[in-house]
Amino acid sequence: MSDSPAPSPASPAFAGDLAPDEFRAAAHAAVDWIADYLESATQYPVKSRVQPGAVRAALPAAPPVHGEPLEAMLRDFRDTIMPGITHWNHPGFFAYFANSASYPGILGELLAAGLNANGMLWVTSPAVTELEQLTLDWLRQLMGLSDGWFGEITDTASVSTFYALAAARERAGYDVRRQGMAGRADMPRLRVYCSEHAHSSIDKAVIALGLGHDNLVKIPADDSFRLRPELLEAAIQDDLAAGYRPLAVVPCVGTTSMTSVDPVPAVIRIARAHGCWVHVDAAYGGVTAIVPEMRYLMDGTDDADSFVVNPHKWLFTPMDCSVLYTKHPAALKQAFALLPEYLITRTQDDTVNLMDYGIQLGRRFRSLKLWMVLRAYGAEGIAERIRFHCELAREFAGMVHFESGGWELTAPVTMSLVCFRYAPAGLTEEVIVRLNAAIMERVNAGGDAYLSHTKINGRYTLRLAIGNIRTDRVHIDAAWTALRAAAAAESVPA
Ligand SMILES: Cc1ncc(COP(=O)(O)O)c(C=O)c1O
Repeated sequence: MSDSPAPSPASPAFAGDLAPDEFRAAAHAAVDWIADYLESATQYPVKSRVQPGAVRAALPAAPPVHGEPLEAMLRDFRDTIMPGITHWNHPGFFAYFANSASYPGILGELLAAGLNANGMLWVTSPAVTELEQLTLDWLRQLMGLSDGWFGEITDTASVSTFYALAAARERAGYDVRRQGMAGRADMPRLRVYCSEHAHSSIDKAVIALGLGHDNLVKIPADDSFRLRPELLEAAIQDDLAAGYRPLAVVPCVGTTSMTSVDPVPAVIRIARAHGCWVHVDAAYGGVTAIVPEMRYLMDGTDDADSFVVNPHKWLFTPMDCSVLYTKHPAALKQAFALLPEYLITRTQDDTVNLMDYGIQLGRRFRSLKLWMVLRAYGAEGIAERIRFHCELAREFAGMVHFESGGWELTAPVTMSLVCFRYAPAGLTEEVIVRLNAAIMERVNAGGDAYLSHTKINGRYTLRLAIGNIRTDRVHIDAAWTALRAAAAAESVPA
């Protein structure tokens, strides 16, 4: 028996929600299921094996006319949806940038769903705004950055970077917000610079802001895959001579393909000399600053104008949670704030209203999960976990390096990503591509590990990214065993 009173509808037509006891029972079952799932995720193949269209085809094409019991939904979830899931929470997930939903993060999501608070304005749920601001200030402190940073949560780094470049454009002084950019004689071409290894989200931001993809200048990198500052300077000089206006530079701490780290201090010196905004893409690598001995990787970022870091990547926080920090919140407001009559509030001038700092009005209570993660592990617990992942990466790199017979590392290990491939002597690049693609397919089909690939300066490369809170040595060993077995099984043409 529940302690809750039964709902007492005022009108005979009152439909209301399901009975609280029905929810309670189903929710308890769901939580039990989640705990079992996370404890035994290795029973599933990491990468889903369903064929395209299979999940959809297995479910009714039309919605039910009459309501169905929660039980039936949970059954379909287990039997039909689950086979179509690729298990990011599996400790053998090493593709892209591995992430994980930790228990405290899941609890935060659950509570946020229960509250369904919308933090579009301070007044529409003061705790949503204030906890977001507080949590992001905690995260800033954990990363050893100075105060004076304003943070806001967005869904992804792609959106965070878009916002940063929108603020940079507005701050450049062309009143684009009001006048747009088309057909203006007073408007030079605005140029944005990043390394040749920058993430495609920079390209997308430039495209979406109407700056024109041709105006994103990709600067060549050195042998360690770091943007070359002297070539940045040269590109800016060329652009100035051509009458363009350098707008922003986007160095990266932890590039997607190989986690290289651009020389942020040198980039900032050049950018400052030309009045450019500096936005650091630390979507993946930013959290290394929480580990005291790795903090140097974020050197210089404290002097930037903005940066992005994604707790939903390597900070054990469930999707989605990206953080944009800027020293110039007024520029974000200048780009985005609008106040229609229906959003005017009495406390407006005394409070932060997060709708002013981006496109979205409605705002999920995303900070709750991040706050719970930070509290549950503390600075030391987080550092320990990130440190361990880096240690595992170095160990795996050691196995590759010392294995005779054609395995090689293709980039230095700076964080928790290992780039490597199987390239026995005498094979052409074309054959190496086919061979490594086949090895990866075979390993991924095996179910114990899931890897992805990239190209580094034209060389096909496998990537093993460690970032899941449940990944341990045994999972790294299993991946290595599977890789070697796959290499042996693939016939190598003479
Ligand atoms: C360096 C870097 N920046 C940005 C992104 C984009 O992240 P999001 O998926 O949050 O938009 C990624 C994604 O992996 C990344 O590796």
